Amino acid sequence: MSKSALHEFFLHSLGDAYDFEKKLDILLGKVANSVKRGSLADEFLFHQKETRKQIGRIEKIMEILEIRTLEKKSRTIDIMIREIVRLIAGIQDHHVLEIALISTIQKIEHYEAASYDTLYVLAMGLGYEKIADILHLTLEEERNAERYLGELARRGVRIAAAQAA
Ligand SMILES: [Fe+2]
Repeated sequence: MSKSALHEFFLHSLGDAYDFEKKLDILLGKVANSVKRGSLADEFLFHQKETRKQIGRIEKIMEILEIRTLEKKSRTIDIMIREIVRLIAGIQDHHVLEIALISTIQKIEHYEAASYDTLYVLAMGLGYEKIADILHLTLEEERNAERYLGELARRGVRIAAAQAA
């Protein structure tokens, strides 16, 4: 494989992540608005803030690479958006809706962690060390977010199960 083919794949993957993050930013705002509990809404808004920082990092990488646009669109985030809309419309019990939303955002963070892991490895392989450092910051955030949302889901299930007993 030539270095330019690997570079092309890196740009393709970066474009996917960029589109994903931009749509996730809007989605997290909607999810925060759809939960009753203020402290949970704040959790989603925290992830929205983090997402905006991550969008800024991709734009910084574009600057370093001297590229203005990334063409690739993410189909995965479109599917996840449809899933969230379906959950909000379909689940009446607000405890269950909270758990479903936390779990779906956790899956999203899991996907993002895997995407940034690949992007980091690609940047290292291409010798883009400064870019790899930037990607590593986001990778760590996505891994922490995934773990934290998993903990939130477990807590939510415990509370809902105690109330149902
Ligand atoms: Fe992200």
